[in-house]
Amino acid sequence: MPFEVLLDQKRIAHRVAELGGQITADYADETPVLVCVLKGGIIFLADLIRTIKLPMELEFVWATSYRRGTTQSDDLVLGGELAIPLKGRHVLIVEGVVDSGKTVVAIQKRIQDQEPATMEVATLIDKPASHRVKLNIKYKGFSIGNDFVIGCGLDNTQKYRNLPFIGRVLEQ
Ligand code: IMP
Ligand code: MG
Repeated sequence: MPFEVLLDQKRIAHRVAELGGQITADYADETPVLVCVLKGGIIFLADLIRTIKLPMELEFVWATSYRRGTTQSDDLVLGGELAIPLKGRHVLIVEGVVDSGKTVVAIQKRIQDQEPATMEVATLIDKPASHRVKLNIKYKGFSIGNDFVIGCGLDNTQKYRNLPFIGRVLEQ
């Protein structure tokens, strides 16, 4: 599958460190709960948390949207136990990519039921032109166009998650 490098490792590391600094300042004196959306959020989470100088707790949920390759589908399935009680906590959802926004909204709804003190979203990649729902994403690594991207946790049919850069899939 042909692709080209869109964001290189150095640029990503620099931006992630900036976000980590911002989160450290915004949550000073708090112990946020970071809720990582598997599988795509895992690399961003791992990189991001090592730049946040705060005590924190981690949770994981998974989301599958049953899309084949780069085409979209609406069959969203959420899973994973939220073992930490989130009532009154500062929750930060950590995603790899926000496309239509439906996944994030579904996860926000689930967390909102537990009445957290605050709930924000961090994503490595945002595709604002693709949003189909109203979203407030406080921490964005990079905003891109409608490209399909791979690497840093993001897959194409489960592969390429381990690429250390963000690649843009080229038309075949
Ligand atoms: P949503 O449309 O915002 O709900 O995104 C659903 C899911 O689609 C994301 O969590 C990713 O798993 C996947 N996705 C959307 N765009 C991309 C992309 O460019 N690369 C890899 N996965 C993507
Ligand atoms: Mg995927």
